[in-house]
Amino acid sequence: MLDVEALRGEALRDIAAAVDEAQLEQARIEWLGRKGPIADALRGIKNAPPDERRELGLALNRVRDALESAMEERRAALKASSVTARLAREALDVTLPGRPRAIGGPHPLQLAEDALVDALHALGFQLADGPEVESEELNFEALNIPADHPAREMHDTFFVEGHPGYVLRTHTSPVQIRAMRRHAPAPLRVVTVGRVYRRDDDVTHSPVFHQMEGLAVGEGLGMQHLKGTLYGLCRAIFGQDVRIRLRPSYFPFTEPSAEVDIGCVFCGGDGCRICKGTGFIEILGSGMVHPHVLREGGYDPARHTGFAFGVGVERIAMLRYGVDDIRLFFQSDLRLLRQF
Ligand code: PHE
Repeated sequence: MLDVEALRGEALRDIAAAVDEAQLEQARIEWLGRKGPIADALRGIKNAPPDERRELGLALNRVRDALESAMEERRAALKASSVTARLAREALDVTLPGRPRAIGGPHPLQLAEDALVDALHALGFQLADGPEVESEELNFEALNIPADHPAREMHDTFFVEGHPGYVLRTHTSPVQIRAMRRHAPAPLRVVTVGRVYRRDDDVTHSPVFHQMEGLAVGEGLGMQHLKGTLYGLCRAIFGQDVRIRLRPSYFPFTEPSAEVDIGCVFCGGDGCRICKGTGFIEILGSGMVHPHVLREGGYDPARHTGFAFGVGVERIAMLRYGVDDIRLFFQSDLRLLRQF
């Protein structure tokens, strides 16, 4: 005879032990399924002695009802706890601080370049442009530097393999010729800025560096206009009180030529290590455009005169931001770049 109480106990333990709906379904099939012990027993009732059949049938139905409601309860409990678990798993702590995104900024050379160009823009100079791979003709000859000129030695030039007659431009001055040829015979004020190349490499020289160049051509332009423009430029970069000194110098493409010094921004002119005790720091080259260069540009030097100046952008950035090694500008070291 089937022990109905034992069956109930075992089935209830199974149901309680189910940890998810799949296990619970397993238990249902096992205990309440068509091939389970209860269905079996119900089918066997007809073999029991007639006076026990009724009792047995009632007992089996009670067990079946009990197991069904136990399963119902267990199913509800599992469902509730899986929702709770999921809520816990996907919880979002809105009180945590956000993850900051690193924000980039302009490179110090870009800042110096922008400041230089903005200053000249304010003085009426318009942007002009030229290629970094330049013809020797524009980089040298048109600027009054023939092949045998000693000034070529100062421009340690990169030549372009397989392209005779082409160099990596050693300065931005070829843009003078390009701008003049585009605009002659009209008066002209242009500024250009960009990369230039020389075979140098030490704490103050890099094989690639940047220059900014200004050029004005018109009637009656003289050194006074050059000096006034340089004052406008230097005040915009180094402040209203900056002092300027023009020193006679030589460039093949300007005559007369002057190198321009500013009062030392580190010692205020008293003399220090950086200005080597002189109180002045050289910042650019300049002069009145040579008649040969004006003619190359398409102007008549009997009618038009002009002035030009060239500035090293790295040099300005080093002075403005107190950077003492030019190579720092090209190393992409975030410890430096984050300071700008
Ligand atoms: N091109 C000259 C240099 O690279 C600088 C310069 C420009 C000088 C314009 C005078 C006039 O050294």
